Amino acid sequence: MEKYINQYSAEKKYFILTYGCQMNERDSEVLEGYLDNMGYYPVNTEKDADIIILNTCCIREKAELKVFGKLGELSQLKKEKPGLVIGVCGCMTQQDEVFQKIKNKTPYVNLVFGTYNVHQLPNLLLQIQNTGEPAYEIWEKEGEIVETEISRRVDTIKAYVNISYGCDNFCTYCIVPHVRGRERSRTPDKIVEEISGLVKEGYKEIMLLGQNVNSYGKDFDHKFDFADLLVEINNIDGLERIRYMTSHPRDFTDKLVETIAKCNKICEHYHLPIQNGSNKILKAMNRGYTREEYLELVEKIKATVPNYAITSDIIVGFPGETEEDFKDTLDIVEKVRFDAIYTFAYSPRKGTPAATMECQVDDAVKKERLHRLMDLQNKISFEKNMELVGSNIEVLVESLSKTDDSRLTGRSRTNKIVNFSGDQTLIGKTVNVKITKAQTWNLVGEI
Ligand code: 5AD
Ligand code: SF4
Repeated sequence: MEKYINQYSAEKKYFILTYGCQMNERDSEVLEGYLDNMGYYPVNTEKDADIIILNTCCIREKAELKVFGKLGELSQLKKEKPGLVIGVCGCMTQQDEVFQKIKNKTPYVNLVFGTYNVHQLPNLLLQIQNTGEPAYEIWEKEGEIVETEISRRVDTIKAYVNISYGCDNFCTYCIVPHVRGRERSRTPDKIVEEISGLVKEGYKEIMLLGQNVNSYGKDFDHKFDFADLLVEINNIDGLERIRYMTSHPRDFTDKLVETIAKCNKICEHYHLPIQNGSNKILKAMNRGYTREEYLELVEKIKATVPNYAITSDIIVGFPGETEEDFKDTLDIVEKVRFDAIYTFAYSPRKGTPAATMECQVDDAVKKERLHRLMDLQNKISFEKNMELVGSNIEVLVESLSKTDDSRLTGRSRTNKIVNFSGDQTLIGKTVNVKITKAQTWNLVGEI
């Protein structure tokens, strides 16, 4: 493992603020690893840091506004501490107009690097230290995957493991393929090696990460797909739980449904973003499936894994969405009975086809639809959780409860949060919990 210790690093403190999805969280773990390796150490607040990095997201406009708001706040710190390094990385930086805005509107930002340039952080910092000048490095296109073992993992029980980077789907609303590049799969050997190492360190659960995990391997010149990878990972001794995020309904093959059903470590939680319930909108989104095909997939899952949970992402107010289309969304939510959904108001992203489509939906209409959808889902989530009262559930204990430190919290295999009383020594262990009470977002029980 390469070390980047240098004479300037002594006593330097860093703070990374991460926005967006698990991909970004994982990238931040790698960035933190590089900084640790340089001899820097982490602090909990911005004001104590000598290096502040914002790892940004641009999936919706709101995410971008938050980052510019934060940069505004940081300008004061820079005045007090002129030597401060303020960095911006992640998805926002891959959009040229955003990069220009950062340079022009927030000139005190002296480090900017893109999503393909994570591995260059050490060199960029050295460059700033040596020259006193800002360092910018943003590749327009993805390069080869850069493998590294360097990382500071946030958790000691659950670990993220990248299996692929980028996305080739080009859903018409989505900025991700534009900022994360074409899909590249890591080799199975590297993935299995990383997970085996994590298990040796004591990790119990791994979350396989990819923008579209189930199109894994499409870029290989031999046949090896996500189902094949899962079988290999399932064979790793000592590993208890396997999760994956995010899967695409279009690429959820029968082989995958069957593989998941027969691999004992794969959790019975399917996160299958449907995005919309109207066939017209699904087509305009370029999702590649119909509502009927989605329902058929859910039936297949139900037939192979009885105690499954299903969650989803849904966008309301996509261009051209009428009240009728929206009713189709409400209807499919009632038909599938999701355990939970993440709901989003459509946010136009520059450079994506949907941003310039006619019949953009009014913000007020989006908001109203969002509320109706959330009301329906909350009712279903509560009803589904109520069905679990009285049953025994396997829970991997994660930590003390954030709201009540006399209690423990963990997750079921179906990804439900379960709170219960118990001894701290149970953290990291798998226990059986009898569910005594249900709430919309979590369950309460006793060992
Ligand atoms: N507007 C609103 N929501 C979006 N998502 C992706 N792009 C947009 C957008 N432009 C949602 C999708 C995706 C989730 C991560 O974010 O539902 O699954
Ligand atoms: Fe993740 Fe997409 Fe946001 Fe990037 S833009 S952080 S890939 S959600």
